[in-house]
Amino acid sequence: MSDARHTPVLAVETQDCLAPGPGKRFIDGTFGFGGHASALLDAGAEVLGLDLSADACTACAALRESQPRLHCRCGSFRHLDRWAAEAGWTAVDGILLDLGVSSLQLDDPDLGFSYRKDGPLDLRFDQTRGQSAADLVAALDERDLADLIWKYGEERGSRRIARRVIAARAVEPVATTTALREIVERVVPRGRKIEPVLSRVFQALRIAVNDELGALEEALTKSPALLAPGGVLAVIGYHSLEDRLVKKFLARETRDCLCPPEAMVCTCGHQASLEPISRKAIQASAEEQQRNPRSRSARLRAARKLKKGSRT
Ligand SMILES: C[S@@+](CC[C@H](N)C(=O)[O-])C[C@H]1O[C@@H](n2cnc3c(N)ncnc32)[C@H](O)[C@@H]1O
Repeated sequence: MSDARHTPVLAVETQDCLAPGPGKRFIDGTFGFGGHASALLDAGAEVLGLDLSADACTACAALRESQPRLHCRCGSFRHLDRWAAEAGWTAVDGILLDLGVSSLQLDDPDLGFSYRKDGPLDLRFDQTRGQSAADLVAALDERDLADLIWKYGEERGSRRIARRVIAARAVEPVATTTALREIVERVVPRGRKIEPVLSRVFQALRIAVNDELGALEEALTKSPALLAPGGVLAVIGYHSLEDRLVKKFLARETRDCLCPPEAMVCTCGHQASLEPISRKAIQASAEEQQRNPRSRSARLRAARKLKKGSRT
């Protein structure tokens, strides 16, 4: 896992939004294998690369050997304010979050992200802390497991799947990706495609063990204060739950008043901190979607920090 320059999703569109250049500073909250970060560095910018994964941290350190403008921190983007302060950065020109899991992580059976590969049912970005998916599946009761699969996977067969998992774990622990896959396969009714169900169940567990939505919400909330006027927040999401969260956050932060529409006068005093770069989410071109199927679900949303007093 050492491909430090793999082509990232929405590469051109992301750079267009971030507009990197010499003297500018960016936080890449999801360094991965440095695809987006490399483009920022190539444009002359300074980059603080964060990631939870040990392999990504190794890739960041390796790239830093030839790129002194790159700084690496092994940790969550939910603490991006802390990492920036530690680097001595008070304001940045851009923050990038390219969410979820990288294709290289998906390909590594030891991480358990893919139901297509046999491996431990782990699904943590940082395997040194927290509960693995196997621990979670072993600990939850049937109702909580069903709720989790519904809430984070939006899988309508959640109750049936949870029931089968609980029955199976009474015989032996559900400790591998294959064990979980086989349970799900037995539950899916004839005529229904199995792969999308598996994908939703694994997504649900991944979101839960990594508290992905909590981390995203925390990072989004902290971002406006960290951006210099004119600085850009760019987020690439890959499923509706994260995209909805980003969309809702931007809708709020790009509006001056949050009072109900029937209010005659504003009493909330809320002021927009950002302005949208594009009203709609930016999607991969047909050519990119053809070349990289993973880009099909990608949605890029970006907004610029308002200069004080630039709104009336
Ligand atoms: C889609 S990949 C990023 C790919 C990267 N942009 C590139 O060009 O190579 C997502 C990365 O985010 C990391 N990640 C997920 N949640 C994180 C979090 N809360 N904090 C830091 N990194 C996180 C994952 O470990 C993974 O490496």
